[in-house]
Parts: sequence; structure tokens; C-alpha cells
Amino acid sequence: MADSDSPFAIRFHQTGGPEILVSEPIDVGEPGSGQVRLRHEAVGLNFIDTYFRTGLYPIELPSGLGNEAAGVVEAVGEGVSDFQPGDRAGYFTGPVGAYATHRLVEADRLVKLPEGIASEQAAAAMLKGCTAEYLIERCARVQSGQAVLVHAAAGGVGSIAMQWLEAIGARVIAHSGSTAKARLAAELGAAVSLDCPMEQLATMVREATAGEGVAVVLDGVGAASWEASLASVARRGLIVSYGNASGPVPSLTPLDLMRRGSIFVTRPTLADYCATPEAMRASAARLFEMMLSGKVKVQIGARYPLAEAAQAHRALEARATTGSTVLIP
Ligand SMILES: NC(=O)c1ccc[n+]([C@@H]2O[C@H](COP(=O)([O-])OP(=O)(O)OC[C@H]3O[C@@H](n4cnc5c(N)ncnc54)[C@H](OP(=O)(O)O)[C@@H]3O)[C@@H](O)[C@H]2O)c1
Repeated sequence: MADSDSPFAIRFHQTGGPEILVSEPIDVGEPGSGQVRLRHEAVGLNFIDTYFRTGLYPIELPSGLGNEAAGVVEAVGEGVSDFQPGDRAGYFTGPVGAYATHRLVEADRLVKLPEGIASEQAAAAMLKGCTAEYLIERCARVQSGQAVLVHAAAGGVGSIAMQWLEAIGARVIAHSGSTAKARLAAELGAAVSLDCPMEQLATMVREATAGEGVAVVLDGVGAASWEASLASVARRGLIVSYGNASGPVPSLTPLDLMRRGSIFVTRPTLADYCATPEAMRASAARLFEMMLSGKVKVQIGARYPLAEAAQAHRALEARATTGSTVLIP
């Protein structure tokens, strides 16, 4: 166990439940060539962190956890010219190990935080918001006037994606797991906000779209929502399966796509849409523009001390969170 004033990281030595997360002292050291030492002011909690912890996404152990953090540059290594001590910066494309008070980060993974974006907001928004950016603008290429079904609409990615979609003129049909979450989704601008059981969702979606179904489904829930997604999408529509919060989706064949109405299915990941420093920074710049214009208001539903990351994991997996959760070192 680390003492409270010295640098520490949350790590795990075997896969399992939240209880395997342990706090360990770290020796951060000086940045090497091309690196920056960042003092984290806030760390983003993301559902993918639970996939690594449980072993759904295998990783070499022991390991740190977390892909996203923001804070203040303390020192820069040789060859780093675009950051200097005192700059505020963040990252959201890993590598895994962001659950820490301090960290050495490759400068080309970092993005400068503009005036008006606090570290906490950045850690709450970057990974989820850049996911919304690529899903909407580069993957599904949603057009104004299209109807879009968003699952887990009050969640981290969902609450940002919903506001983004409304801002570009799409018509959002939101689905959430509780009445309170559906209320939040409605407040955030959903045209239709539902909290019905999954088995009834497609019928409600058809009713809300004059029988046609939606042009696009954004589905980060996975196993539990998959059948509803297939039954809600319009003829020649697109399902973007971008996550497995309830478990991985069952496999499907090309013939299934034909039978469901000549539909399209894609299973994208942020890593492929922010694969270069340029793409990553362009995505972040677009997100910050949406935040600074007030079109996307990032919802921080909860803050936990970093040392209590296990509690935050329990809440996320119990569907007890709304918006983004941040861990504070
Ligand atoms: N592909 C990518 O590039 C990418 C990038 C970022 C995130 N993601 C994915 O996006 C999804 C959302 O991530 P997030 O961090 O923003 O999480 P989140 O949406 O804040 O939390 C997950 C939500 O999923 C819903 N859910 C339904 N069934 C669930 C179950 N059995 N267990 C847990 N949750 C369940 C819950 O909302 P309701 O109660 O309202 O149903 C829950 O709040 C995740 O699947 C994540 O892996 C993918």
C-alpha cells in the first residue's frame, strides 16, 4: 500500500473482480527522449478498463490500468519541443497505465488542453468524446434529419454522442436502463427517450419512426441490446456495434445482414480512428470545439479518489453511473 503523499499507481496482478486492484508506490523518474512527465490532475474511468481487469481483453500481467488522464507537464525529455513544464495536457489513446498520480508519456500521445477546458473536464471527455466524434462524423457519417437509436444514452459515450447528434440535426431516440436515466437523456435533448425493457424497444422505435426504423444504431451495450438493435434498424440502415458493456455480441453471417433488410454492421475501435498523432489531435480539436461552443456539455456524474478505483469499477459495472466518472489522484 502506498503512503498518501508519494506517487502511486493502481495495478493488478491477476484478472478478476474490482477487489484485485491494488495501490502500489511508483518511482516515476525523469522523462527519456521524446517523453514528458505529467502530473495527473484527473484520470478518466472507461468501460474498457473493466474489460482489461476481467480478462475479456487479454493484457500482460502485472499491469497498470486506464487509457486517459489530464494534468500538468512537470518535465520534458530530449527532443520534445511542443510541450514545456507548466503546460496543461492530456491523453486518451493509452498506453494502459493512466491510473497513477504521475506518469512518463510519449509526447506524441499528448494533446494540449485549450483555455476553458479544465483537466477534470478533459479526463471526463477525451476518450468518450473522441469516440462520439469518430462514430458520428467519420464512421456512421450521420446526416441531419436521420433518426439514430442510442443505447445507454445517459452513460459516458452515450450522453456526449446524444448531444452531438442533436447539435448536427439528427433525431435521437435514446434508450436507458432506468426512468431516472431516461429523464437525464431527455434533458440532454433526446427527441424520444425510452426506458422500456429491451424486448419492447424495437416496437417503440418503429412507432417513433412511422414504422421505418432508424437509419443508424449506436450500440455500446452489446449482448443485451443486440436483438433490439437488429429489429430497430431501417432497411439498408447501419448498426455501429462499438462496445460490450453487457457482454460480446453473438456472431452473424452475411446472410443475416440480407435477412434483416440489407443492413450494414460495423465494429469499430477508437485505436483505428485515432491511429496517428495527427488523427488523434484532430479528433480532440473537434471535441474541444463542440465543448467550448456549448453544444456538448460533459456530464461528470461522480468523482472518486484514485485510491478508490475499485469502488468506481463496481458502480460502473452495476449500471449505477451516469455521464462520466473521474478518478482524482
Ligand atoms: N469502440 C470504441 O472505440 C469505444 C470507445 C469508448 C467506449 N466504448 C464502449 O462504449 C460503451 C460505453 O462506455 P462508457 O465508458 O461510456 O460506459 P457507460 O456507458 O457510462 O456505462 C455502460 C452503460 O451500459 C449500459 N449497460 C447495459 N447493460 C449493462 C450491463 N449488463 N452491465 C453494465 N452496463 C450495462 C448501462 O446503461 P443503461 O443502464 O442505461 O443501459 C451502463 O451505464 C462500452 O461498451 C465501451 O466499451 C467503445
